[in-house]
Amino acid sequence: MDGNGRWATARGLPRTEGHRQGSLSAERLVRFLSKEKLVPYVTLFAFSTENWSRPKREIEFLFRLLEGFIERKLAELAEAGVRLRLIGDPRPLPSRLRRAIERAIGATVHNEGLNLTIALNFGGRWAILEGVRRALTAGLAATGLDEATFRGLMPTGELPELDLVIRTGGHKRLSNFFLWEAAYAELYFTETLWPDFDERAFLEALLDFQNRTRNFGRVVA
Ligand code: FPP
Repeated sequence: MDGNGRWATARGLPRTEGHRQGSLSAERLVRFLSKEKLVPYVTLFAFSTENWSRPKREIEFLFRLLEGFIERKLAELAEAGVRLRLIGDPRPLPSRLRRAIERAIGATVHNEGLNLTIALNFGGRWAILEGVRRALTAGLAATGLDEATFRGLMPTGELPELDLVIRTGGHKRLSNFFLWEAAYAELYFTETLWPDFDERAFLEALLDFQNRTRNFGRVVA
């Protein structure tokens, strides 16, 4: 969800206002996906392991925004059948935010509608390392470790194979997002800044995805 800062700066507004609009954009998309059932799983990359280097005020604002989003929207999400998951290391997060997330995860655990995952204090390298740590902790022998087993040990192990990565805001890189998971994912980059990314923009990305040929390394006749 890139481009909040630039969206705000272009309007002479503080960056935090861009994040506020960004959270409304996320809300709009979740509501749309939940209602239209276009995709069974969606992950929003809300805060990366690198985002800690931002100004303290901006970080605090983002965490408050997320906490407010979860608190205010939980009833609606739960009602709509959305199941919330978190991926990322929750330990350094403010305890109020952690508690709000735990409550929301618990309250939606039996839901069978849209699977919404929020990546918070998440990094692709962290996720791989975490898988390695869990494999070592479980005492797995090197010879017994195959891709399927390792994938199951990773923090993203509950999510299905990744199909599509959408990055808004014009940069064409993964920025330490799903590194392992994106091995055969389709990548979609758009100049649209996240606060402007609406239902139509999502459908454009989905149409683009549908027109791609995916051969997963095989030869397609
Ligand atoms: C990147 O834009 C965006 C973020 C670091 C934060 C994303 C967070 C939200 C959209 C709000 C909360 C999310 C939910 C799920 C309610 P940037 O600041 O890097 O933009 P720039 O590249 O234009 O500076």
